Amino acid sequence: MTSIVVLGSTNMDLVAYVPRAPALGETVTGRAFRTIPGGKGANQAVAAARAGAEVAMIGAVGADDFGVRLRATLEHCAVDTDLLRTVEGSSGTAHIVVDEEGGNAIVVVPGANGTLTSLSHGDEALIGTADTLLLQLELPLPVVVEGAVTARRLGVRTLLTPAPAQPLPPELLAATDLLVPNEHEAAALTGLTDPRAAAQALLRFVPEVVITLGAAGSLYASRGAEPVTVPAPRVRAVDTTGAGDTFVGALAVALGEGRPAPEALAWAQTAAALSVQREGASTSMPYRVEIEAAFHSPHILEVD
Ligand code: RIB
Ligand code: NA
Repeated sequence: MTSIVVLGSTNMDLVAYVPRAPALGETVTGRAFRTIPGGKGANQAVAAARAGAEVAMIGAVGADDFGVRLRATLEHCAVDTDLLRTVEGSSGTAHIVVDEEGGNAIVVVPGANGTLTSLSHGDEALIGTADTLLLQLELPLPVVVEGAVTARRLGVRTLLTPAPAQPLPPELLAATDLLVPNEHEAAALTGLTDPRAAAQALLRFVPEVVITLGAAGSLYASRGAEPVTVPAPRVRAVDTTGAGDTFVGALAVALGEGRPAPEALAWAQTAAALSVQREGASTSMPYRVEIEAAFHSPHILEVD
């Protein structure tokens, strides 16, 4: 089993399902409301655990009902939460509208996530036990940098999802082994809208890049090799929230198990394709047996 530590956010997702997202000043009537455990960090932890890794989570929840449920969700997925703090105040929340095509718009209020500004000795020791450290940008930037630098020092592979998009400090990129932006984040980081060109530009800073392209699949690029595009299964999306996190969690597992990059991308895309067919972030993430079944028989997934 590959071992993964996630340094990242936990949010309660407050999801309204609507015919279309409202414009500013407008009110639309939704068809349903759900509270679903999410947050990019916790999502990646759940995705990796269900995909078959041993996972531990470093993060912070609030001393509220949401915090209790967020912790319980991780524990239910066999994610080690010994270093998940409970701090005074509210848990992180994400205020999400999901439209009829499964697309979303999200406002994140960090809450407890914003209190995690540095690592403890225990965090460092835990990171040192992992094969891979997963990082995103929903915790304060200094602790993300500290996590990446610590992992690099301890010989642990680092995988950074640069979301939500923001400028990255050079020391963070310098400690990143694999950068996994979506096409919009890649464009924001490089100023280049062509994914191949963006990947080439990013390879000046990190040795490996995967750019996710939504329904078009994903692109893998490494120094000195031709980039490879892996097409995604064609599916009907119900809710794409957390699809990127599902992809990253599954990708980390596949790479950690030594699968070659193109196969790992295809496997992770299968996981993401399963997740977009179900509502919610953590609630939609597939188990390893489901990923394997769909990976070997893609017609299970595909729509005409
Ligand atoms: O990546 C999806 C996640 O982003 C949601 O679960 C929400 O919590 C936001 O953080
Ligand atoms: Na989903």
